Amino acid sequence: MQNRYWRLNRYPQGIDFDQALSLESEPLPPVSEGEVLIRADWLSMDAGTRMWMTPRTDGYQPPLPLGAKMAGLCLGRVVETAHPDFEKGDLVRGFGQWAEYSLIKPELAGAAKIDASIDDLRQHFGVLGMNAWTAYVGITEIGQAKAGQTVLVSAAAGATGLLACQIARNIGCQVIGIAGGPEKCKFLKERYDVAQTIDYRRDNIEEVLGKVEGGVHVYFDNVGGPILDAVLPNMALYGRIALCGLISTYDRDKPSAGPMRFDQILMRRLTVTGFFIPDSLERSVEFMPRLRAWMDTGQLTMPFDQTTGIENVLRAYSRMITGKNIGKVIVDVRD
Ligand SMILES: NC(=O)c1ccc[n+]([C@@H]2O[C@H](COP(=O)([O-])OP(=O)(O)OC[C@H]3O[C@@H](n4cnc5c(N)ncnc54)[C@H](OP(=O)(O)O)[C@@H]3O)[C@@H](O)[C@H]2O)c1
Repeated sequence: MQNRYWRLNRYPQGIDFDQALSLESEPLPPVSEGEVLIRADWLSMDAGTRMWMTPRTDGYQPPLPLGAKMAGLCLGRVVETAHPDFEKGDLVRGFGQWAEYSLIKPELAGAAKIDASIDDLRQHFGVLGMNAWTAYVGITEIGQAKAGQTVLVSAAAGATGLLACQIARNIGCQVIGIAGGPEKCKFLKERYDVAQTIDYRRDNIEEVLGKVEGGVHVYFDNVGGPILDAVLPNMALYGRIALCGLISTYDRDKPSAGPMRFDQILMRRLTVTGFFIPDSLERSVEFMPRLRAWMDTGQLTMPFDQTTGIENVLRAYSRMITGKNIGKVIVDVRD
């Protein structure tokens, strides 16, 4: 049987993914001791993977070697197993490849068997998935957000941001969302009760935030760059920045300068903490009951920006990187 997969041939410049990756086909590999073969139903498009497609060696993960299969999260069924903890038919999520079939070593792939009884299995990439764990840790532990405080979230209409907004709202915070374009801002206010929105493509962020009484207590940052510089002078004294992502810089081959307003970390006695959810995968059992309860009561939801077909993966990925998406970008690769 053949397996279609995306191969990284060179590191993309900007968004020229078509020039950098190609769809290939090869016979399915044999499954060796300790390995599991997963037939994917859905693939997750994650912003952080953009950095794996650069030559930078100072990221939280080494770059993918050229010629490798593109790596990414997949969700599907075990079709062959040589691992004692996994049986044929198990529903599994883990780091595999942009492929119809992913051959993984579960311990290295952060792979776990997941609940096949929920109505919409895609939510294992949504409110029950790693973006949700990231949002939960960032808001409650790193940001230590408390009821009544002002929480600011960037890339607020994307997967991680939308979850961070909802979690902050659920614990009683006043949420301000930064997103690109009026449609996303309207969506955040009307569908997700985000108290205030800032369209970073049009509004003067620094000016808008300057009017927030008491300043921003917690900034959940997905973006970095000029938006972070606009936020820093508007943080509350002793405010906290949960540094989740730096999407504005991921396509650069070299680290970027900044933040320009680094001084404000001292002037406002801020705590800035970077965090990376793969460091805490084993803690998912702690987060799941609360996330599940919010899901069951409708207090945590995730819309999907879904593309169909393995051949359309790059289209889906570009949608996410260029901000065409609202919610979680996934690819349906079922037959
Ligand atoms: N630390 C962790 O463990 C962890 C885990 C998961 C995700 N993350 C981070 O979370 C962030 C979001 O990732 P995601 O996978 O959930 O993707 P996503 O938010 O669903 O999609 C990315 C969003 O980023 C926004 N964006 C793109 N370029 C931008 C720019 N230059 N300035 C401002 N906004 C920009 C776009 O929305 P607009 O239309 O609003 O521009 C787009 O919708 C990334 O930084 C990612 O690395 C971190």
